[in-house]
Amino acid sequence: MQNHVEHSVDLRSDTVTQPCAAMWDAMRSAPLGDDVLGDEPTVARLEAMIAARLGKEAAVFVPSGTMANQLAIRVACGAGDEIIAHEESHIIHYETGGPAALSGAMVRTVRGDGGLFDAGDVTAAVRTRNIHHPVSKMLVAENTQNRGGGTVWGMDRWERVAREAHAHGLHVHVDGARLFNACVASGYSAGAFAKHADTVSVCFSKGLGCPVGSALVGPAAFIERARRFRKMFGGGMRQSGLLAAAAIFALEHNVDRLAHDHANAKAFARGISALRGLRPHVSAEETPTNMVFFHVDPAIGTAQALCARLESKGVRMMGLDPQRVRAVTHRDVDAAGIERAVREIAAAVQGK
Ligand SMILES: Cc1ncc(COP(=O)(O)O)c(C=O)c1O
Repeated sequence: MQNHVEHSVDLRSDTVTQPCAAMWDAMRSAPLGDDVLGDEPTVARLEAMIAARLGKEAAVFVPSGTMANQLAIRVACGAGDEIIAHEESHIIHYETGGPAALSGAMVRTVRGDGGLFDAGDVTAAVRTRNIHHPVSKMLVAENTQNRGGGTVWGMDRWERVAREAHAHGLHVHVDGARLFNACVASGYSAGAFAKHADTVSVCFSKGLGCPVGSALVGPAAFIERARRFRKMFGGGMRQSGLLAAAAIFALEHNVDRLAHDHANAKAFARGISALRGLRPHVSAEETPTNMVFFHVDPAIGTAQALCARLESKGVRMMGLDPQRVRAVTHRDVDAAGIERAVREIAAAVQGK
């Protein structure tokens, strides 16, 4: 099979992975039905599996992490309601204004290092009941936190934050697009983390290596309402067992191996720390999971220009801001690929 990633070291995102041969086999042999008509056996199996893994009653399989988050928001909030979230949240930066457009909800932001925050930030952000104010309805927290650098919530801090949110009657949602990265890095289980949340979205299409697919997990009645909105938003799928089979395979085979991606991210950060003009946001040893954000000295040029130079050498990364680059490790880049990337970056910045 022609595999684009064989020819380049693609560190733009962990979403670029291609299904491995065994995943294809699992997809090919999955029994299929029609999920909108309610008889898709492989989707049903995946939904039961991920719900059990997170210790929740039910799950709904959806095409994307964005849809999982937006369904949670749509069920938890109505027009004029407010969500509390970190200012670097995915739901704010990368979901095309979904909370406002789909649910009529606004977002009140909190701040904190690495995209994390404390219980006191929640207390301060919750509105008092007053005819002038929006109604605080929901807390959304990301684990891992993407724009914070792939950071991981510590369990004690998370428990305090979730408890405070619940004390104010908020629905607690975790954007767990990379929850399994957080689990592998921290040692806690997905269920232990999810216990403090009402709903959790998880993605199979990122570090877990699937081509498509995410799930929203939570109480049965909440998920039943989300299922209606999934249909309304055009996310009802038919023989989607094909995709669910990939997700089942990923949950069975691709979770523990995330540790390799984390080790590769550290090796990458170590490699570029040694290069003049490039500075990772945290030290190599502190690189929390599979993401490395690094600053590019303007003397070298812009982040975009550096990425363009490297693209022509078969190394792909993402220029996020004028001087900031993001590199993400995943199952289609091995240690040799990381060495090659560092070598090409060294050549690209040399003499600049
Ligand atoms: C933290 C986080 N949440 C949600 C998403 C959305 O996932 P999708 O691209 O499947 O919509 C992403 C995508 O990268 C993400 O990083």
